[in-house]
Amino acid sequence: MTSIKWWENAVIYQIYPRSYQDSNNDGIGDIPGIISRLDYIAGLGVDAVWISPFFKSPQKDFGYDVSDYCDINPDYGTMDDFDKMIAKMHDLGLKLMIDIVPAHCSDQHPWFEESRQSRDNPKADWFHWVDPLPDGSAPTNWLSFFGGRAWSWEPRRQQYYLHNFLPEQPNLNHANPEVTEAFVQIAQYWFDRGVDGFRIDAVHTINADTAPYRNNDANPNFVPGALPQQQQPFFRQLHDSAQLNQPSIQRFSEAYRACADSYDRDIYLMGELHGDDPIKASQTFTEDGRLHATYNFNLLAWDGLDVRGIKEAITSAVQAFNGTGRLSFAFSNHDVPRSATRQLKPLGLGPESVEKMQLLLLKLEACLIGSTCVYQGEELALDDVRDIPIDKMQDPWGIEFAPAFLGRDTCRTPMVWRQDAPHGGFSTANQTWLPVAKSHLPKAGLDAAERDGSVYREFSAFLKWRKSQPAFMSGNTMSDISGDDHTLIFDRVSEAQTIRCTFDFDTLTAHFEEL
Ligand code: BGC
Repeated sequence: MTSIKWWENAVIYQIYPRSYQDSNNDGIGDIPGIISRLDYIAGLGVDAVWISPFFKSPQKDFGYDVSDYCDINPDYGTMDDFDKMIAKMHDLGLKLMIDIVPAHCSDQHPWFEESRQSRDNPKADWFHWVDPLPDGSAPTNWLSFFGGRAWSWEPRRQQYYLHNFLPEQPNLNHANPEVTEAFVQIAQYWFDRGVDGFRIDAVHTINADTAPYRNNDANPNFVPGALPQQQQPFFRQLHDSAQLNQPSIQRFSEAYRACADSYDRDIYLMGELHGDDPIKASQTFTEDGRLHATYNFNLLAWDGLDVRGIKEAITSAVQAFNGTGRLSFAFSNHDVPRSATRQLKPLGLGPESVEKMQLLLLKLEACLIGSTCVYQGEELALDDVRDIPIDKMQDPWGIEFAPAFLGRDTCRTPMVWRQDAPHGGFSTANQTWLPVAKSHLPKAGLDAAERDGSVYREFSAFLKWRKSQPAFMSGNTMSDISGDDHTLIFDRVSEAQTIRCTFDFDTLTAHFEEL
């Protein structure tokens, strides 16, 4: 029945490996732990798995600071474990996507260790090195996502280097074709091992020809949001005027697409990107010969969305991409508060409704065009964990701004598997890297998979049904959304079938009718 490629309508399950399953009692999740849970994932009925970074890394940003892109961090296991994992996934009919971080690496990557030594070593221009202004200050007004300036000083070179995130995450200089070529080789390394696709981290923050490094313009539309005071200066600037999303990034997209296309199987390249105008940026990144799709942030609003907000969020993205699989929606990930908590207030619901609401949101995203990413624990309606003691916090972004802002630990606590097991079955260590939430225990995964009526079981049944419907499986078209402040109604349309999808936020139920 299917005439579209696997990734165009895939339901992708996102694993944060540090918090999935510990197998060697060190309190940290690992690849053998993931292997032991693959039957649970396959049982849910998803099509693919995306695993956040497990490469060698000093873990300053928990794997998004890579010091060797072709090796596994010892905390997570070995390459042999990886090979076993991918083989088992493929046996179970699951595709594997991994997370590639091409915009920056760790300051402990040998590339940066060499580059920072002098102005004339072989890696001297692999990063963005810029002289200070005449008064000694940083070259531009650019700020880092995590607070503070995007420039740090290197005394050995008497220059500043660029980092859009932590100072320990120096930005690579993709204006140098050797850098992009190094990333093509990294891609080949993983494709040759059988990987089916990449989630490409923060592609809009790749910096190529950004010299002569102009200042960002001020953002005339700035509205103070949920982020703490200290973070707000970042959003007072328009980044696409100079710092991010510059046209030269597309040389990277094109090199990656050419690499993916050189394989005789369908490899999926999904870029995580944001921008001052995210839809326009997504269109640019997915032009012919570039990335297949981009990861859309519209449904990830930090404070959640009411029904009208959800409708607008979907509509604005769908209008740009209807009829294609070039976008991917998500309600949760490892960077935002969990939807089970975030969405209650704007939808006017209390905690007693959390499971019904979560199931409705899961079904809704699975009915949209394009792929969808389900974050570990959404299938259990796990809530956001907001009572982690400050001295147990791990996320550098949260630590910078706590207690005004809790950062991302709230959605990264370990998965729970059995209500009655120590640490919910995540680990047998005395202490886990982040505490297991007591509130999660009654929702433990293996228990839920055995319990009639659980979110896991209901979503699994729904995904099974969805797979048998041509409206979802052989086309990527949907009608405009109608409804009111409580209801969303749209049709999924393929040549063979039209299904009317109704999401009722009063009764928290979804209805499907073949027209
Ligand atoms: C990832 C974050 C990470 C950042 C820097 C993001 O978009 O999802 O977790 O901190 O990129 O790599």
